[in-house]
Amino acid sequence: MKDICKSFHGIHANKDINLHVESGEILGLLGENGAGKTTLMNILYGLYQPDSGQIQINGSPISISNPVESILHGIGMVHQHFMLIQNHSILENIALGYKDTPFFFPKIKLRKRVAEFSKQFDFRMDLDQKVWQLSAGQQQRIEIIKALLNGADLLILDEPTSVLTPPEIKELISILRQMKAEGHMVIFISHKLDEIMDICDRVTVLQKGRIVGHANTADTNKKALARMMVGRDVVFNIDKEKLKKGKKVLSVQDIHISGDKGITAIKGVSFDLFENEIFGIAGVSGNGQRELAEAITGIRKIDSGSVRMDEKDITNLSPRHIYDNGVSHVPEERIRFGIAPGLFLYDNAILKQHHLKKFSKRYFLKYSQVKNHAKTIVSDFKVATHSINNQIRNLSGGNIQKLILGREISEQPRLLVASHPTYGLDVGATEFLREHLLELRKQGSSVLLFSEDLEEIFELCDRVAVIFAGEFMGILDADDERFCDIGLMMAGSKEPSPKITNFSESTAV
Ligand SMILES: Nc1ncnc2c1ncn2[C@@H]1O[C@H](COP(=O)(O)OP(=O)(O)OP(=O)(O)O)[C@@H](O)[C@H]1O
Ligand SMILES: [Mg+2]
Repeated sequence: MKDICKSFHGIHANKDINLHVESGEILGLLGENGAGKTTLMNILYGLYQPDSGQIQINGSPISISNPVESILHGIGMVHQHFMLIQNHSILENIALGYKDTPFFFPKIKLRKRVAEFSKQFDFRMDLDQKVWQLSAGQQQRIEIIKALLNGADLLILDEPTSVLTPPEIKELISILRQMKAEGHMVIFISHKLDEIMDICDRVTVLQKGRIVGHANTADTNKKALARMMVGRDVVFNIDKEKLKKGKKVLSVQDIHISGDKGITAIKGVSFDLFENEIFGIAGVSGNGQRELAEAITGIRKIDSGSVRMDEKDITNLSPRHIYDNGVSHVPEERIRFGIAPGLFLYDNAILKQHHLKKFSKRYFLKYSQVKNHAKTIVSDFKVATHSINNQIRNLSGGNIQKLILGREISEQPRLLVASHPTYGLDVGATEFLREHLLELRKQGSSVLLFSEDLEEIFELCDRVAVIFAGEFMGILDADDERFCDIGLMMAGSKEPSPKITNFSESTAV
């Protein structure tokens, strides 16, 4: 890519970008939220047109005016937010955008092609399953198959690992290594510096739309990369102050919840959560975390059992009533449940809060208050946007997440239910959020944190429950030296070591 420039509303998203990738190479693209990574890759994939600059393949300039042309040039892209059609089957989704699709749906031919490919890259899946039934990892594999079937020489992966479980990440890395060995090129965007160091040959760092540095991963380290991105040193390990837990805030008693496919997703889970406490739920995703978070926040029905907030029964109340009882929620799927993409940023800053007296009077919103509130969130949480009169879908992924966090946290909730809150955040924003969660805890709130990132769990949580197949395998205290058992428990081992505590108090195992 040569001298690429692109602006939106007079603000540079990309400025004078020069970038190259060689065959058999994995290039990492790094930068803070809103630095311009996705925009640059959307230009390469033909979704956006640059204002100026040129794209060349093997030294010859080419023009890419849409994704069909980029696919013909051997470029494939897996987007930051999946673009599959949820109600269609895997095969139908692969057929959409397949470059050799004739007039009629080439079911038999395509099924054969996919089967050959699946064998080569060890993808195992039932092609007639509907996409909505699949985990994020499976959806992503379909996106990769789609790109490879179209003969992609260059595969662009925009934050592919944010939503993957650790085993899925391992699988993805081995696929990428195989592609590299076969001479394919990969551009890999991630905020997880360990991953970048592990799989990339080179990295390019963007800051505010410009390239600020290049490095060979062999000659650099995580700290130096973070400094290059953020322009200052980043603290990777924060110390948490020891606090005495206060009154009981949340009490979950023997709840059973059904999953989307009608099978029981949570089987008799019980626990209590106190003031000044961060309670982590660790586990490989798909073991009931999503259903548990949705049930507590009112999005999903509880079949039996009870949830109490400050001794008040809130079982199966509506999300709004649960919010009114002091429960905030940062959902796992931010685009589907966290925002209304077509609305302005200021509307999104008060979702679920629009009925509060300070934002509305009778049937009308008090727009000046709403806008002031939005401006405060934007400035406190450093949301990069040119204006609050901007449709939220135009913000970068990490900045959407920052706005959701600001909305849910800034009002000092009694309980925050947060699923993967640092998902998609850059290293600086992650550090900021972790400090903020600890501050909430200090102020007396409780936090129920769902995460697969063990480092995050260890750093923040006072107690951790390990969930497997819809049950708690045990609850560990942060002081427990046997944290190494967590890995085993995540894989389903219920064997409680002598130091596992709080069984009597909190679980129904
Ligand atoms: N369609 C659009 N309309 C207006 N502004 C846009 C549009 N697309 C991107 N932008 C702006 O361009 C800038 C760069 O966004 P981009 O999505 O490329 O960031 P990013 O580096 O991918 O960030 P993240 O790590 O959060 O995903 C942002 O300020 C964003 O608001
Ligand atoms: Mg992005």
